Amino acid sequence: MTKNCLYLTALVAVFAVASSSFSQTTGQTARSTDSSVTAVEGESWISFLHRPFGETSMAKTWSLGPAPPRPGEEASSWQLDLSPGYTARTITLHGSDLYRLSCRGCHGEAGRGAPPEINSIIGPVQATSVAGTMERMKKAGREMSRSDVTTVAKESKVLLLQRLHAGGQHMPPPTLSEAEIRSLVPYLEQLSEVPGAEKNQIAVKESPYRVGEHIVKSTCHICHSATGPNPDAKQIFEGAIPPLSTLTTRVNLPLFVQKVTHGAPIVMGTPPVAYRGRMPVFVYLSQDEAAEAYQYLILYPPRP
Ligand code: HEC
Ligand code: HEC
Repeated sequence: MTKNCLYLTALVAVFAVASSSFSQTTGQTARSTDSSVTAVEGESWISFLHRPFGETSMAKTWSLGPAPPRPGEEASSWQLDLSPGYTARTITLHGSDLYRLSCRGCHGEAGRGAPPEINSIIGPVQATSVAGTMERMKKAGREMSRSDVTTVAKESKVLLLQRLHAGGQHMPPPTLSEAEIRSLVPYLEQLSEVPGAEKNQIAVKESPYRVGEHIVKSTCHICHSATGPNPDAKQIFEGAIPPLSTLTTRVNLPLFVQKVTHGAPIVMGTPPVAYRGRMPVFVYLSQDEAAEAYQYLILYPPRP
């Protein structure tokens, strides 16, 4: 079977799943968010900011894949291990998952970011809590009336919600639905040690394509532009980052999943040689999630 033919088969399978069994067997939440999935568009976030790859902490996990095998050595023993029917199931996401998929690439596991480039989310989220602020004021030996604290908390909440809808000057607008925001906020509070936040955690049900969309738009799209020319080995060596529209033809599903979750060598330079590459590894994404990003790119082709 040719490569194209394989892709076509995959597409048809995916469409069948998306249009029949999936929408019939899932709840309302999943169906409505599924129809809201859109293609990734436009240049990467770092090129939009004119920030060179080497001069930013955005989406850098600081973990790199294994070195490529030396001549005569065996390649590392990585194995593809996807859940059966991973494109057809409904996924339950907790606030912590939404954070992981949409925020962690820049703000890190603990939410502290990489100041001064990427601010910590802890302070701004703590400021939204009356109880938390009163407690901290008391500890610091400062006086502030409850009504003043309440005013500040309300303003801080407005700012936080604004950011979750629209992003910031250097932060891309997140792709969050209202239901997702209601699930993410209590997790941000838990991360920021707002008193009682653990009890308020709520989950949302999503389609696999929505998960793929979150990953691609808020992590991959930071470095990879949506479309553009497909760089050759020499251009990659010189620093070119292949656009998202080329990834699903440059590599197959297993290699894509390996590159994202474990790291995989990339062929570059003249003459072309396998290198470890520069792309960070996202160990906190599961293989299923990386595969969902791949299926999302196939089903919703990136647009200029
Ligand atoms: C591409 C990187 C990136 C991603 C992804 C990202 N942020 Fe940010 N965030 C930033 C940067 C940079 C700043 C500071 C500059 C600015 O305000 O634009 C920031 C600032 C913030 C602040 C305000 C900090 C302050 O001092 O006022 C909050 C809160 C925040 N982000 C929350 C989030 C949440 C929640 C998510 C996930 C939905 C998220 N960010 C995703 C880069 C990112
Ligand atoms: C911090 C920047 C950055 C982020 C974020 C990033 N990439 Fe990359 N990616 C690169 C660079 C640079 C290369 C080319 C050099 C290399 O392979 O390291 C690359 C190469 C790739 C390749 C290899 C193409 C080939 O021909 O072998 C794939 C596949 C890929 N990225 C997928 C993704 C996916 C999927 C995501 C999101 C989960 C992502 N990348 C996030 C920087 C990034």
